[in-house]
Amino acid sequence: MEPQIPQAEPAPAHPPLESLAARPLLDRDYEARPAVFYEKLRAEYGPVAPVDVLGVPVWLVIGYPQTLDILRDARGIWSRRVESWRAYREGTVPADWPMLPVVESDNCGFRDGADSTRLRSAWSEGLRPFQDRTRPEAKALEEAVRRYADELIDVLAENGGRTGHADLAAQYARPLPLMVVGRLLGTGDGDGGGDDGLIVDLWRVLDAGPDAQEASTRLLARMAEVCAARTTAPGRDLPSAMLAAVPDLTAEELTGEMAMMTGLVGDVTGTLICNTVTEVLIGGTGARDSMSAGLIHEAINRASTANPPMANLAFRWPRSDVRVGRFQIAAGDPVMVSPAAAHLDPAFTGNSAPDAIYSSRAHLAWSAGPHACLGRDLATTVTTIAVERLFERFAGLRLALPPDQLAWRSSPLIRGLRALPVHYELAGEPPRRAAAPSGTGEPAPDTNRSEAEPASLVRRILRVMRLSQS
Ligand code: HEM
Repeated sequence: MEPQIPQAEPAPAHPPLESLAARPLLDRDYEARPAVFYEKLRAEYGPVAPVDVLGVPVWLVIGYPQTLDILRDARGIWSRRVESWRAYREGTVPADWPMLPVVESDNCGFRDGADSTRLRSAWSEGLRPFQDRTRPEAKALEEAVRRYADELIDVLAENGGRTGHADLAAQYARPLPLMVVGRLLGTGDGDGGGDDGLIVDLWRVLDAGPDAQEASTRLLARMAEVCAARTTAPGRDLPSAMLAAVPDLTAEELTGEMAMMTGLVGDVTGTLICNTVTEVLIGGTGARDSMSAGLIHEAINRASTANPPMANLAFRWPRSDVRVGRFQIAAGDPVMVSPAAAHLDPAFTGNSAPDAIYSSRAHLAWSAGPHACLGRDLATTVTTIAVERLFERFAGLRLALPPDQLAWRSSPLIRGLRALPVHYELAGEPPRRAAAPSGTGEPAPDTNRSEAEPASLVRRILRVMRLSQS
């Protein structure tokens, strides 16, 4: 593995980042043919390349060893605090730069050292009841996810018939994790009804429609209320469990972490579900064979390698000048590492046999090192159930478009589809009419319900999203 070269090495001579001719990150190839995009960069620049991210010059690290080295940060070079960004301190970052809200977020992703450790302990302890599959909370969550998945499929079939056409992103993969957000916050169900407003606002934010800004303000205010309430009256939810682990967490800190959680669960987990289904349907990366062999985790692993939902990670800034690849990165320059590009580096792909039953676990879709993902097990469980239910309930699922015509989101960070159009054929019986297990506090799925009966959370949400008439 090629290490970052210590400072004693002579620095390569080149103009500063701001003066290098940087290629725009968000071009057509980046969206439609990322492998081509990254390979062109690699051929021209090697393992690190200057790119233009929506008007701001950034170093994009595309080599696998370099990405891993930066993520592990064994020498303590890399800061995640926005104050470490030279241009930000000097006030030269445009005030309307679309990524500014991300890097200015007040959450554990953008803290260093003891600040980061404290919040990470709250996360790992707080998530334990939901990630340790022997715990009652985790079991109840799994049951609920199964129920949400089945009901979403019921509604899809009610609207579209036994065989038909559906957008599995809008009708399945994206709404499903929203219910999980509600459950983790302790507002979703299980306590006598759902906080539809919060989940619908989250949907509006993720949908980035005209009312997204207002929805975001309401969402944050509602989350602040929930977090403040948990400091005085804890429940059996994630914020309460985080508070129990780190009692001096303030309501503001908790709100920042929960805001991050809504993105990670509501958006990124839905993206992994979609990307996994897509890889299975396309069949080019072995994900379909894994699925046929009953190896769902393996299918998820392959999808995470081919299209990591967090394609590029924002941002890291070196505390001192550091050489990476052919360039000398100056202290305070913005650096994005790219798991998506690293997974295409021959240094990574060269190590795996194309016909191996198990793919490499050394992929970087969950990051690595001191900021590695703490919700991996939860996200994997939700994705596994979602994918499993889909392929059990449908006898036939195929893409409604050739793979190269699928539309991908234009995002510097996320690799996800805008829509996942499929032709489907339902297996076996028509939509189930199973009752929700007693004691869940959630009304039963209500295909046969009379007008007087309340609609379930799934149906209420879908109705507001205009994805269901019933
Ligand atoms: C498929 C879904 C998910 C993917 C692909 C994913 C991936 C990642 C990645 C790549 C990072 C590191 C970012 C960086 O190093 O710059 C990260 C951080 C994190 N993830 Fe996840 N994540 C997912 C879901 C979740 C969920 C569901 C949770 C918890 C509810 C979670 C909790 C966290 C936390 C707390 C961090 C911040 C760690 C830190 O900065 O110290 N993630 N995730």
